[in-house]
Amino acid sequence: MDMKYILRKKRDGEELSEEEIKFFIKGVSNGTIHEAQIGAMLMAIFIKGMTQQECVTLTKEMVFSGDTMQWPAKFRGSLVDKHSTGGVGDKVSIPLAPALAACGLKVPMLTGRCLSFTGGTLDKLESIPGFRISLTDTEMQSCLEEVGCFMMGTTERICPADKVLYKIRDLTSTVDYYNLIASSILSKKASEGIDYLIMDLKVGSATFMKDVESARVLAHQKINLSKLLGFKTRILLTRHETPLGRCVGNSLEIFESIEILRGKNVPLIKDLILHIGGHALHLSGKTSSVEEGELKMREVLENGKALECFKNMLIKQGVSEEVSHQLCFGDTRSALPQAKYQTRILAQNTGWINRIEAFPIGKVCYELGKTNENSSDTLNRSTGVELLKTVDEFVEINEPWILVHHSEEQLNEDHINALKASITISSVRIEIENQLIEVI
Ligand code: URA
Repeated sequence: MDMKYILRKKRDGEELSEEEIKFFIKGVSNGTIHEAQIGAMLMAIFIKGMTQQECVTLTKEMVFSGDTMQWPAKFRGSLVDKHSTGGVGDKVSIPLAPALAACGLKVPMLTGRCLSFTGGTLDKLESIPGFRISLTDTEMQSCLEEVGCFMMGTTERICPADKVLYKIRDLTSTVDYYNLIASSILSKKASEGIDYLIMDLKVGSATFMKDVESARVLAHQKINLSKLLGFKTRILLTRHETPLGRCVGNSLEIFESIEILRGKNVPLIKDLILHIGGHALHLSGKTSSVEEGELKMREVLENGKALECFKNMLIKQGVSEEVSHQLCFGDTRSALPQAKYQTRILAQNTGWINRIEAFPIGKVCYELGKTNENSSDTLNRSTGVELLKTVDEFVEINEPWILVHHSEEQLNEDHINALKASITISSVRIEIENQLIEVI
């Protein structure tokens, strides 16, 4: 088979056959297709689209590109995961996985790096000194058996095709096409050998999905595709206009995740964690209602059981006993990388904060952390922003509302202006819309 012929076909908008997609994914995984051709193929798919059948074949082939995790029969019915389409300050997975484990579920989480302006769970986890994002089979088994969860990246053995495509999509601006998002997420989830998946499908100005109608189409497609792949999916459409929580940036988000695991009520994120966890417990039959699941989640987040699971997961994944202890029970910030410089930006009016736009904040944070245009492997882990004030809070003129953590002494004027323009302060307090739009 000839890759140039397959590329021409997709470029001209034709449907690819099963054999052609198989050939492409095989070559992506074993390195026999040139990166230029992979980039061209992704761009052709992005522009010309894919049929449902092509998307099903692509996803299945991505799963078959590696091994599927195998679990003992006693875990059946308890194997659950969650995935988000990506957001600014979206650190939900980090407290959620240990909280679900503390509720008795098994969470073998395969997660990803930053894509475009949205942060990646792997990048955040890698800001923890010693944390290993690659585990052997024996280590995975022992994490699930003894702790109940782990979080790792795709490897040369588990979903290798996504490992390659994910990176090239980010480099070629071909991230935000729903069939590519669906195949990337669901191939990883199928490789985990799970029974249930909760999908947080973000909708709004700070996401790849700008409108509810397109999100519904993607949601139904994902539910059908996951059935074919052997697990059951429930999708939460959630609104995403404002950064989730107060921190955006890798090590800052680890700090905030641990605050949540220590029982703190962080705005715009704790409730989301409770909802997602509540649905995971209900979908897997561990509770008889979502509300009961939410109560269970609140309990483990507030009684220290989720934090204990998190600490045990850190130790299993390479973090020393001492660092894990300091992170979880001591001065968390000082155990994490910290940026050399901090700059406070002041409010230009007095009033209620009605809006803080996540998209420009995500872009500024991405640029503050970027050390190499062509690679997310060399991100600066300590940079980002902290919202000292967020939506539905009152701010006085000249009061600092955002703290920027940066590694260069001088903060770029464009970044300062973008941050200043991202906030809307008004004398009128408006009601903040519910984050959860609908459950599918
Ligand atoms: N998360 C993924 O794993 N893949 C995507 O394409 C988007 C979010």
